[in-house]
Amino acid sequence: MAREFKHDVLDLIKTRWSPRAFSPEAVPKEDLLALCEAARYAPSCFNEQPWRFVLATSPDELANLQSILVESNLVWAKAAPALLLILAKKTFTSTGKDNYWHMFDSGTAWGYLSLEAERRGLVTHGMGGFSKKKAQDLYSLPDDLIPIAVIAIGKLGQRLELPEKLREREHPGERNSLESLFFIAPDPSTKD
Ligand SMILES: Cc1cc2nc3c(=O)[nH]c(=O)nc-3n(C[C@H](O)[C@H](O)[C@H](O)COP(=O)(O)O)c2cc1C
Repeated sequence: MAREFKHDVLDLIKTRWSPRAFSPEAVPKEDLLALCEAARYAPSCFNEQPWRFVLATSPDELANLQSILVESNLVWAKAAPALLLILAKKTFTSTGKDNYWHMFDSGTAWGYLSLEAERRGLVTHGMGGFSKKKAQDLYSLPDDLIPIAVIAIGKLGQRLELPEKLREREHPGERNSLESLFFIAPDPSTKD
């Protein structure tokens, strides 16, 4: 299914999508560290950098993160050679006050990471479907660190190896129209 772009944007934005077919082939550590580096340079409110990542690539750590996924995600994400848990710190480190933007900024970091992955020929798939309670217990998270998402990272695998139901969904997500989501104020200077 082709995506439609009415305006020209970065190729990485055009080609990135969230597959479920992952190859079990390992991802070089240098690539994974570069993804973290891309996320590190995301902007954040007061440069707080509220994101925290747990990167799993060893069998034990992968099993830990797989154990918190809901079944409908586990069924495909268990093939991914790397899983990343994204956490967000709810308070500003310097003042201890609430950081209203902790999830906003952590989401930006994940966006940067996903585009760097695309540049490196890797695929990513974010998952909100996991047990927050299990994540908290697994890593004994303090109250101000909340688990936001688990990201599957790897190389694109074989669509045919997915369960049939998922095969049908294995295509880039489409989007609502620009007009339906963005209010763009008319420019008075162009009015006739
Ligand atoms: C925060 C977040 C949570 C998501 N949770 C899940 C999930 O639990 N399971 C899943 O299969 N996909 C999940 N997705 C993937 C989205 O469904 C996907 O990004 C969306 O359909 C757009 O498709 P695209 O990424 O191919 O453009 C999630 C994506 C994000 C950003």
